[in-house]
Amino acid sequence: MSAAQVTPARLEQSGPALAGGAWQPEILAFCCNYCAYAAADLAGSRRMQYPSNVRVMHVPCTGKIEMEHILAAFEKGIDGVLIAGCLEGGCHFLEGNLRAKRRSEYLREMLDQLGVGRERLRMVNLSAAMAPTFVARVKEVVETVKGLGPNPLRKSVP
Ligand code: FES
Repeated sequence: MSAAQVTPARLEQSGPALAGGAWQPEILAFCCNYCAYAAADLAGSRRMQYPSNVRVMHVPCTGKIEMEHILAAFEKGIDGVLIAGCLEGGCHFLEGNLRAKRRSEYLREMLDQLGVGRERLRMVNLSAAMAPTFVARVKEVVETVKGLGPNPLRKSVP
């Protein structure tokens, strides 16, 4: 799925993730095709476990993720967002990951100002072979967001 397909209508379909009745954070992981998505795929083929409340969104490059996509996700109640791109210097579109890094830093500031919290957005850089690192970063994001609680922009949590 490309970032262009992350529409507000699609995000509206998501609801609070529940496990045994307890709140579980919903995390969206934007993974670039060439490295991070391959790392996620490798993690899957190696049967490495990571939390099921993380939805992986396949994007051609992290540089293609517009700020509107991230903000729309938070507005619709997503509790945390992970942006996973190629290693610096390894972007297949040259500087897409650097552009994504600048955007994510700007958005983290904005999330603080909105009262959502910068910690809900994290960007990481991976190679295609870094499946264990992908799993570790995903688990870190889930634990961080669990500590923060539900996204305050979420209208209601059962
Ligand atoms: Fe992976 Fe650009 S192609 S971040």
